[in-house]
Amino acid sequence: MKILVLNGPNINFLGIREPHIYGKSTYNDLLKLIKEHAHNKGVDVSFYQSNHEGDLVDQIQKAYYDKIDGIIFNPAAYTHTSVAILDAVKAVNIPTVEVHISAVDKREDFRQISYISKIAIKTISGKGFDGYIEALDYLKEYLEK
Ligand code: DQA
Repeated sequence: MKILVLNGPNINFLGIREPHIYGKSTYNDLLKLIKEHAHNKGVDVSFYQSNHEGDLVDQIQKAYYDKIDGIIFNPAAYTHTSVAILDAVKAVNIPTVEVHISAVDKREDFRQISYISKIAIKTISGKGFDGYIEALDYLKEYLEK
């Protein structure tokens, strides 16, 4: 089972950006946590992060050719703006779990719209890095059914 963990803009700045919201751990800490968990679960996991919308679209299309089974996706700010990213996930038709580190539902009005949630099989928010772990477990179970 191949799962892609996709992260959008500023996620590479974890540990630096607004630590009172996103915590003090870094993007590399996040990768390490997911890698260890994926290894224990026997899941083949790959990672991609970009600050550019089109790069994320390209990577979603690449997931189709790479025969990726599921995507764990934190589109970050593009969650609230990007029809292109929603359309890309619709196009490849790969089961996708939406993850947000912070509790977006309790934040500013402009964060209350999520385009990706129109296609996501599940949305997890406000659980910090553990949200990615929950997403992996959920996706694995979903794909095994
Ligand atoms: C985020 C929430 C978004 O609103 C924000 O733009 C991000 C990160 C999160 O993980 O909590 O960059 O997706």
